Amino acid sequence: MKAHVASVGMYVPQRRMSNSELTELVDTSDEWIYSHTGIRCRHIADDSEAASDLAYHASIQALEQASLEPAQIDLVLLATSTPDYPGLPSTASIVQDRIGAKKAGAMDIAAACTGFVYGVETARAFVSSGAARTVLVIGSEVYSRILNWRDRDTCVLFGDGAGAVIVKRSDEEAGQSEVLDSFLRSRGSGARTLLRPTGGSRTPFVPGETEIESTRLSMDGRRVYMFAVGALTDVVNYLLERNNLTIDQIDHIVPHQANIRIIDAACKRGRFPPEKFFTNLEEYANTSAASIPIALHEMVEKGRLQRGDMVITVGFGAGLTYGGNLIRW
Ligand code: UT7
Repeated sequence: MKAHVASVGMYVPQRRMSNSELTELVDTSDEWIYSHTGIRCRHIADDSEAASDLAYHASIQALEQASLEPAQIDLVLLATSTPDYPGLPSTASIVQDRIGAKKAGAMDIAAACTGFVYGVETARAFVSSGAARTVLVIGSEVYSRILNWRDRDTCVLFGDGAGAVIVKRSDEEAGQSEVLDSFLRSRGSGARTLLRPTGGSRTPFVPGETEIESTRLSMDGRRVYMFAVGALTDVVNYLLERNNLTIDQIDHIVPHQANIRIIDAACKRGRFPPEKFFTNLEEYANTSAASIPIALHEMVEKGRLQRGDMVITVGFGAGLTYGGNLIRW
């Protein structure tokens, strides 16, 4: 059985934070941030909003676009590194309840910025095996809660947001639309290049001893950059080769929206046409697992992504994980 992407939704918090606002928190400038990342602003959740709230809004939009009732969903997959609660319960279960998906299973996917790519492939596998007919795949993040707002190396890079797609068993209506292939990899030897060092079972939070900064995101930016350029190039090439395609047969590449320089460098290294890459990180910064579905949604809204178009998504991030999906939209 084949699976296709039936619809896509997104949600970002109202509050926009510009680069110049960040200059009040850390020693930085709009010029540095824009020239080193391509980011101009990011959206920040208000105190009442958690990952499940952002996910809820994106999911309702995806359900409406697909003309589906919540009870038709068999499985809710939610990719996040910023769950409502640490470890349990899953944020997916909270969303499942809130949208009224009464007949669905629910679980979170922990693959950081590659989480949405992993989610789409998991959904495809469930649908093509016959284990599920309709799967809601969400990427939802509130990185503003896990950043060290005194660390200029990291706090300028991320934003909050959510995106969701419905992956559904293909029927005649779907035409040729299909999730054709995926590529998932992990390089766990790089686990410590991007992490929250304290607060898990390895190094628990000890009241009175643990410094709050060590519970926040910490990153070796240079190493992640090098990894990301290689990963982005490799994923595109692998999916092309395995499917006997050339880059000319691909309409859009939708990379994880981390840094424009990563995308530019991968374009040069892989000799990929830059105009095939969609970017919106200037407005949203890096929303981790949410960045690819937010990009897909904007492409559809702008009429840039049409049924039948060939799309490659590419994720990369903590783990270190990386991967991509080949989709005939
Ligand atoms: O989803 C994956 C998540 N991670 C990423 O995407 C991050 C990947 N890495 C990167 O994108 C880049 O490595 C960064 C954007 C994080 C850093 O850019 P860079 O060109 O590699 O800068 P750098 O780390 O080599 O730092 C250059 C200088 C340093 O100053 P000195 O030592 O040369 O005096 C930094 O202290 O820039 C300084 N710097 C800043 N200056 C102003 C670092 N962050 C800032 C800042 N504002 N926000």
